[in-house]
Amino acid sequence: MVSGSLPAILGGLPAVPRGMVKPWPEIREEDKKAVLGVLDRGILWGGNGPEVKALEEEWCRYVGSKHCLVTNSGTAALHMAVAAAGVKPGDEVIAASLSWTSSATCILHHNAIPVFVDVRSDTLCINEDEIEEKVSDRTKAIIPVHYAGLPCDMDKVMDVAERHDLKVIEDCCQAHGATYKGKMVGTIGDIGCFSLNGSKNLSGGEGGLLVTDDDDSYREAARVWQFGENRREDGSREYNAYGMGWMYRTTEMTAAFARSQLRRLDWITERIRENCHYLSDNLRGIKGLRVPVEPPERKHVFWVYKVLFYPEELGLKVPPKLFRDKVEAALRAEGVETGRAEFIIPDMTLFHQKEGYGRGCPWSCHLYGKKIEYRAEDYPGAMEALARNTGIAGTKPPNGRELMERYVEAFQKIFDNVDEVVSAQSMTSMG
Ligand SMILES: Cc1ncc(COP(=O)(O)O)c(C=O)c1O
Repeated sequence: MVSGSLPAILGGLPAVPRGMVKPWPEIREEDKKAVLGVLDRGILWGGNGPEVKALEEEWCRYVGSKHCLVTNSGTAALHMAVAAAGVKPGDEVIAASLSWTSSATCILHHNAIPVFVDVRSDTLCINEDEIEEKVSDRTKAIIPVHYAGLPCDMDKVMDVAERHDLKVIEDCCQAHGATYKGKMVGTIGDIGCFSLNGSKNLSGGEGGLLVTDDDDSYREAARVWQFGENRREDGSREYNAYGMGWMYRTTEMTAAFARSQLRRLDWITERIRENCHYLSDNLRGIKGLRVPVEPPERKHVFWVYKVLFYPEELGLKVPPKLFRDKVEAALRAEGVETGRAEFIIPDMTLFHQKEGYGRGCPWSCHLYGKKIEYRAEDYPGAMEALARNTGIAGTKPPNGRELMERYVEAFQKIFDNVDEVVSAQSMTSMG
């Protein structure tokens, strides 16, 4: 280990040589063959195309669910889920304050009103203990997000849901294969939604999956999925719209690619977990840095490896966000890819302006008739999490131990020289 050597941002050599981080997803010959097979077959689309149907069956088997719909995004799956959960215009749905935009905009898409709950600043999941105080006589559903791949405390979520007769839509867009008390996420609540976006542990390029055991929810979700039609299992179509529908189907190429990746999802998950556990085992002792938590009976699948920065533990009087930005810059100089893809959702312009579809809809809808204000300061856990975290990329295969050792070296160099790293960049930015 080269601790004691100079961080790259101070003129030392980067810990990670250029080109060493391999991109995700790993595309193998079998993946190419799967997609080319679709082109050879010549069936490129269709709600009941052979690849789509096979992916539905395989995903049902994988997670242990009765029904699955393959969609063109996780966002589409979430919108379908909100409709299928029986949410109506003017209803409220509880959402996590820190997540990807569509974890909450899926509610607006169905003319309902998101009511946000703070997140825990350690797990970054919705604060399960604060859900109940946001339940009103309008609340119809809760959307817990299994954040970065860590399952929420689902016993607590389900307990509130059962006592208030609420549906639970699990946003599993970052958590393929994660388990809570041995059960796959997406099958604990009423409906589960996954993303097949190219960055995800199960990639289809773009796409999504909705699962449910409930026949009625499946029928309603399928209407939203395909032009409002009733889905027939033999693939025939009546072309009659029974309800409001969009076009959320995906292509056969996406399904074929995702099926090929799914064949090795268990292997992928284990490689990611090995890499991330190696990082945690070796970074845990560094003062000022906290590694991701993985509470007992919750299997984390680390879509992103999130670390949190606590400069106060080092006696540094630097605001956490500034400290985080400086360490991020130093990590990037070492060749460690960092970043974040999240926001405090109620702090987005959309929620401040509440213009929605125009004329303030859905907030102005007479079926709602309540006033709701969104303020970032109402979500101190989310503010703290946003300011203190960064995501470390490159933890998915084929990246392995050799790269993780370089990552550890990068962190050690930076934290061994943390005063200089913080002040050197201050001087640079002042100059
Ligand atoms: C938590 C969460 N929910 C929903 C989505 C939306 O998925 P998609 O990009 O497939 O629409 C994402 C995508 O990153 C996500 O991370």
